[in-house]
Amino acid sequence: MDPRTTVINKRLQRTGRIIAVSSGKGGVGKSLVATTLALELAQKGCRVGLFDLDFTSPSTHLIMGAAENVLPEEDKGIIPPVVEGLAYMSLIHFSGDHAAPLRGADVSNALVELLAVTQWGDLDFLVLDMPPGIGDAVLDLVRLVKRIEFLIVTTPSRLAFETVKKQIRLLQELNVPIIGVVENMKMNMADDIEQETGKLGVKFLAGIPYDPMVEDAIGDVEKLRGTAIAKRLREVAAKNITQ
Ligand SMILES: Nc1ncnc2c1ncn2[C@@H]1O[C@H](COP(=O)(O)OP(=O)(O)OP(=O)(O)O)[C@@H](O)[C@H]1O
Ligand SMILES: [Mg+2]
Repeated sequence: MDPRTTVINKRLQRTGRIIAVSSGKGGVGKSLVATTLALELAQKGCRVGLFDLDFTSPSTHLIMGAAENVLPEEDKGIIPPVVEGLAYMSLIHFSGDHAAPLRGADVSNALVELLAVTQWGDLDFLVLDMPPGIGDAVLDLVRLVKRIEFLIVTTPSRLAFETVKKQIRLLQELNVPIIGVVENMKMNMADDIEQETGKLGVKFLAGIPYDPMVEDAIGDVEKLRGTAIAKRLREVAAKNITQ
């Protein structure tokens, strides 16, 4: 057994809820939802960490407009820098704007290593921005982090929801808690995703409209807080996460 796996749960002992923002499908808005949710929780006065686990395509630093050269400190592990009030970890601290060409096993290894060495300190919430898919990162986290919970993001498209359905069934089989489903980039009032989510026995948390102003808010946290996305996630946080 890898000794780092025992260390991980010890490291996360002082972390409250650990929320993986995930989707079987790519490009549905996971990073935007994870970052905005973390910022909203921090705005409410919670102590929040944000961990970008999309090692091949990290983007939470771009969403927050964070400098790439903020370096974590080292002291019996790695202490994440504070960015926009969040304890923030990303592979960009180490690789800058260079691609991190990692194969599957290397990704798993980097994930285990970072989980084992990061000193999050006392947190109420640790939000994880997951890479797309139901692959290694999801399976590694479920195996390694005992208290992990999932917040699933989908779009109204059947192409996204069919994959999300599979992911939900997999997590249910593995007895992993699912906080609920967020339907992002909604263009109309259709409620079929909400219905289908209910049939799976999972809570439908919110529909988030497609907001053309989002692109302008990328890299500007104040603008981001003014978007429809932030407003809906503020409600989700109050009703389903901090209560
Ligand atoms: N509600 C929304 N309205 C408008 N644009 C949005 C919305 N949500 C996300 N986007 C945009 O859609 C794109 C994809 O979002 P994001 O990068 O957060 O998705 P992702 O699921 O993390 O993607 P990946 O699978 O590559 O990690 C981005 O350009 C983002 O700004
Ligand atoms: Mg992403």
